[in-house]
Amino acid sequence: MIGAQWGDEGKGKITDLLSKSADVVVRYQGGVNAGHTVVVNGQTFKLHLIPSGILYPDTECIIGSGTVIDPQVLLEEIDQLTALGIPSNHLFISQTAHVTMPYHRLLDQAEEEFRGHHRIGTTGRGIGPTYADKSERTGVRVQDLMDPAGLAEQLTWTITQKNLLLEKLYSLPPLDPATIIDQYLAYGERLRPHVVDSSLMLYEAVQKRRNILFEGAQGTLLDLDHGTYPYVTSSNPVAGGACVGAGIGPTMIDRVIGVAKAYTTRVGEGPFPTELHDPIGQLLCDRGAEFGTTTGRQRRCGWFDAVIGRYAVRINGLDCLAITKLDVLDTLPEIKVCVAYRIDGRVTQHFPNSARQFAHCTPVYETLPGWQQPTTDCRTLEDLPRPALSYLKFLAEIMEVPIAIVSLGASRDQTIIVEDPIHGPKRALLYDQGTDPWVAPPVT
Ligand code: GDP
Ligand code: IMO
Ligand code: MG
Repeated sequence: MIGAQWGDEGKGKITDLLSKSADVVVRYQGGVNAGHTVVVNGQTFKLHLIPSGILYPDTECIIGSGTVIDPQVLLEEIDQLTALGIPSNHLFISQTAHVTMPYHRLLDQAEEEFRGHHRIGTTGRGIGPTYADKSERTGVRVQDLMDPAGLAEQLTWTITQKNLLLEKLYSLPPLDPATIIDQYLAYGERLRPHVVDSSLMLYEAVQKRRNILFEGAQGTLLDLDHGTYPYVTSSNPVAGGACVGAGIGPTMIDRVIGVAKAYTTRVGEGPFPTELHDPIGQLLCDRGAEFGTTTGRQRRCGWFDAVIGRYAVRINGLDCLAITKLDVLDTLPEIKVCVAYRIDGRVTQHFPNSARQFAHCTPVYETLPGWQQPTTDCRTLEDLPRPALSYLKFLAEIMEVPIAIVSLGASRDQTIIVEDPIHGPKRALLYDQGTDPWVAPPVT
């Protein structure tokens, strides 16, 4: 399950729903930049690293090797769940995941300040620098936190180098290696009971035919390779990232589910063609409570962009979509959908790979009627006002992908399951059989 836009699509809620039928839930990339809100029986859970499946006591939750782990935040998250009566004995952490260190966080923030008006608008959680050290082969891995002599040797050297950057380049005070070594060895001891060879664990689960849900953080347009570079995160949230980040082969993935909001939001800098700087944008922000779970920043809001939607279908090979927050549109008299971009006088339905073109494209809109009545209590497609159903049908047709789930509120029950996203027909099969990709029953 992946985010089909710029993150915050409501993946936390959908993971929680799908986790009911999963034996294992795996986070495969990203770190504490993610913020997933799950509402169950009126209680709100905010998760950054721990998969939302943790709320089911029999579901094994794995933080895979493609993630970057800030042990301090992870341990706080474990403690918070324990205080709420949710045990973490079914949480497992890959020994090859990389560790976000204090200097990563400091450097992330210092680099952003240094970039000035070229800043990316990162979450300031040290994500980019942790992945950069991983690529440079100077990173600290979870297994290193349980090797006192090795960690002391590595960090004495690394922190000497990072202190040069902090002091000479950014005029910041240096860090004390001894304090950090002690602190991180203590984190290692606390994490030790959870640390596993997660790739092996997953392989054994596959062999036992257990259901495994791979949970993407961030979203397709924030992907390091396929997103709106450089305004992206430093990992691969796309479906392909699940294989590398979890340590499994592509033949082990049966289907791919995308999550998209019924409109679009983005946090941080970077181009956003359908962004609204008007009262409608403000209305989406207010009704959708569009403030970041991790940083509290106000999210930028705009109309649904079907060009990036089609791109997400292609890049991830989506079998179906979950459309969330349809209820946020309930009061609007009319709703626009971006169906194409105008670039240098030319109209295209394809996402442009050129950053310059993407930054200068203008949306071509189609306007659909609103429904102007509440949908939060709808539980079947037949309950939906007819224009709401037409809106969903329009999205499915233009993106050429079936909609399996419609979400109309933050809680578990505010959901319409159109078709079983796990056992329903695969998209490729629907097309082979010449079936209408829209699988909803006709409205009478
Ligand atoms: P994630 O990062 O993709 O997991 O998404 P976030 O949790 O950061 O942001 C989604 C927000 O929308 C959360 O506060 C959810 O509780 C809320 N939410 C999810 N689905 C719906 C929905 O269908 N309607 C409304 N109104 N809120 C929703
Ligand atoms: P979830 O999982 C939305 C954005 C940041 C910034 C860019 C790079 O909740 O959907 P980073 O700190 O990763 O180096 O920042 O990516 N970003 C997110 N935006 N939701 C997220 O996660 C995000 N994680 C990172 O705002 O623009
Ligand atoms: Mg979020």
